[in-house]
Amino acid sequence: MAYPKLLRLIIRFIFNETYFLILHQDLDQENIALLSSQSDHKNRKNMSKILSVISSPRGEASNSIKLANAIIDQLKAQDPGAVVVVKDLAKSPFPHLEEAHLNAFFTPIEQHTEENKAAISHSNQAIKEIMDADVIVIGAPMYNFGIPSVLKAWFDHIGRAGITFKYGANGPEGLVTGKKAYIAVATGGVYSSGPAAGYDFVVPYVKAFLGFIGITDVTVVRAEGFAVADLQETALDKAIDSIVL
Ligand SMILES: Cc1cc2nc3c(=O)[nH]c(=O)nc-3n(C[C@H](O)[C@H](O)[C@H](O)COP(=O)(O)O)c2cc1C
Repeated sequence: MAYPKLLRLIIRFIFNETYFLILHQDLDQENIALLSSQSDHKNRKNMSKILSVISSPRGEASNSIKLANAIIDQLKAQDPGAVVVVKDLAKSPFPHLEEAHLNAFFTPIEQHTEENKAAISHSNQAIKEIMDADVIVIGAPMYNFGIPSVLKAWFDHIGRAGITFKYGANGPEGLVTGKKAYIAVATGGVYSSGPAAGYDFVVPYVKAFLGFIGITDVTVVRAEGFAVADLQETALDKAIDSIVL
């Protein structure tokens, strides 16, 4: 009985390693260079690169953007040379994953058609930007108990087997390592505790996704209660006061 199980394990290992090698070829030379020299915020004392990810379409009125910007201001106060790259997913959304994207993900680069190259360019761009960052600050409003679909679409282009994660002998392994992330969450209700806590599918999901691709150093800052009369006036200030870098 043990023999088939061992055989299955060996086959799975060989398959995964081969899959990793094939998919690694999907990045062009520039991206391979970025992958191998990806930033490590712990080893950088200053001039870090901050990727500010916006997913609310509410612009200056957005609570998650205000909170994310407060985090970025504090990071910049610590490191005045820090460079901020803004990724506004509401203004420039990534496409939902379609057949063309998946075909491109699973076709070795040497067989890529012009259509594959065009389809995979979104993913390569998103991966390049996240690999290049030391710190990622994600503004995450709660929409219908989850994240805005533009943020999910961005994640869908980042989660690439062999590039941002792989299946090794011990299971999945994240490849986007050495980064720090902040999640700036804005919600109408209160989810940090109390009766609605089980309805928060923003924080557990974003943390799970980031952890899966290797970003495990994650700080969550919550601005909550924008739809609660007693809390809405002070929700943002309270959240900003709670920021610990
Ligand atoms: C379409 C939509 C759906 C929302 N769904 C929820 C929800 O499920 N739970 C909640 O507590 N707040 C909900 N809210 C309130 C927002 O989370 C809150 O207004 C927050 O400030 C939005 O972040 P933003 O200001 O950065 O856009 C919703 C708001 C909108 C516009």
